[in-house]
Parts: sequence; C-alpha cells; structure tokens
Amino acid sequence: MKHLISPQDLSLTELDQLLTLADDISNNPKKYSECCHGKKLATLFYEPSTRTRLSFEAAMLNMGGSVLGFSSADSSSAAKGESVADTIRVVSGYADICAMRHPKEGAPYVASMHASIPVINAGDGGHNHPTQTLTDLLTIKSLKGHLDNLTIGCCGDLKFGRTVHSLINAMVQFPNVKFVFISPEELRIPTYLREETLDANHVEYKEVRVLEDVMPELDILYMTRVQKERFFNEEDYIRLKDSFILDNTKMKLAKDDMLVLHPLPRVNEISTEVDADPRAVYFKQAQYGVYVRMALIMTLLGIKQPEE
Ligand code: NCD
Repeated sequence: MKHLISPQDLSLTELDQLLTLADDISNNPKKYSECCHGKKLATLFYEPSTRTRLSFEAAMLNMGGSVLGFSSADSSSAAKGESVADTIRVVSGYADICAMRHPKEGAPYVASMHASIPVINAGDGGHNHPTQTLTDLLTIKSLKGHLDNLTIGCCGDLKFGRTVHSLINAMVQFPNVKFVFISPEELRIPTYLREETLDANHVEYKEVRVLEDVMPELDILYMTRVQKERFFNEEDYIRLKDSFILDNTKMKLAKDDMLVLHPLPRVNEISTEVDADPRAVYFKQAQYGVYVRMALIMTLLGIKQPEE
C-alpha cells in the first residue's frame, strides 16, 4: 500500500493490521511518542474540516513529527488557478506524506498519480472518505468486539454522504453484514453502489423511509448530516434537512447494545438529549480517529512498531 484513496485499497489483512496497530496505540500512546521524529505531514484541505484535519495533525504531533498545510482553497494557490497536479509535485518536496480533502471527486487520486510521497484521501466530494471509515471500523471493533454479523442502519443523506459510501465499501467484506438504508426518496444511495458493491457482493439490504420502523433490528445506527454544500438548490436542502431527528423517544425502540455513530458535524439530526445515552458513541468515535490515523501514517511511511 502506497496511497490510501479508497477503502478498496486495503486488503482485509492490511485492514486488520491497521486496526490492531491502532488498538495498541490507544493502549500505549507513550510508546509511539517519537516514532515519526523528523517526518512532516502536509494537510492540503480545499474544503472545511474540523475533525479530519485536526486529528491528522494531532496524530502526527503525537508521534513527534511536524505538520504544515492549508485549511481552505482560498488560502492556497488554487485561488490563482494552480492545478492539484502541480501543487502535489511541489508539496512532495516539502513533506513526507500528505492528506488531501477536495470538493471534486477523484482529486486525491489525481494527486497520487503525480506525487512522490504517500497521498491519503481525506474526503473527495460526495465520493469517498476512507479514513473516516477506518475510524468507524475501529470504533465498532473496539466497542462491539467484531465487524461481522451486524445489521447496520445508515440514516440521512445517503446520496451525497461520502462517509456512508466508504463504510459500505469496507463492510461488504465481512460475513453476514446486513444494511438498512433510511433516507428520503431523493437521498437514496447511488445506483453504482447498489449495483457494483452491494449486489455484486450479494449483500442483504433494504431501503426504508421511516426510522422508527427499523430501530429494533439495528446493531449500529450510523446517522449522517444532510450535505448542504452538495445540493444544487437551497429549497431542496431546506425541505430535506430535518427528515430525521434521533431523540430519546426513538432510542427507546432500539436494542440495549445498539451503538449510535455519526461522523460529525451534527446539525439537527441527533437531538442533544441523546448525548447522555451510553449507546451514543460519536464523541468517542472522534477520539478513535486519532489512533487510526497514527496507525495509517506509520504504515504508509513504513515505520516499524517501536519496542516497549
Ligand atoms: C464528514 C465529511 O467530511 O464527509 N465529516 C468528517 O470528516 N468527520 C461528514 C460530514 O461532513 O457530514
């Protein structure tokens, strides 16, 4: 593995190694505090971010490395018309590894073709977000103990939500994983995912409109925000933005050990009263994101696990 552009870049063995390393990092953070000494991570963010960019930077700093980068297209030479290909050629001389977020689908892939350092896709348009998926898998594995035999409900904007797309791509590899997709008609998962990923892997799934109807079946409820920035008109966004709101009344219908995940940021789709429910793990999930990004940076840089 040289770059991480889509979840399919990781074999099941590589995925397992990454999650095992991330688990060790979470239990022994001190052991890793100098393992990236002298290494630099560039964060090239052409779209807003809080967790992804800061958790990448925290990950590198936790390992004794340094960080550089930009956090909006306006503050980079993209505003002058520079191409991603040219930018990455230059950044390859400044840093040892980079994480790129871009509003255009495929931009990190283009970067990887012109880079001489590893490129990590930190979110490309409505397409993929593989490091969020690593975060989600580490959360599920750590708190549930397994990644197979799960019924996963994905709720909200399944059309534009890249975190759901990447989660589906990764989870279809595990035995007896079923999906329940809960969305308005307009925000159903894209046809290419239904045909090329779900059907091609013979994965059981259903699409429904009402969250309450399926709550009792779910082992995981993955809530998502309606992706305002990808809508073509404001009216549609306003009509659809509050389609689902998870609250304590709906949580009463769920299994005692169901977990609620959310990549964050949350807007209205989870009422803050749910935060106190032990099954709400979205803030823990954000913390797991640091450990898994530490594991990923180490792996892509070819850094060996330090001795105790
Ligand atoms: C997600 C993203 O950027 O796709 N955020 C994140 O990285 N945690 C989800 C979102 O913005 O809704």
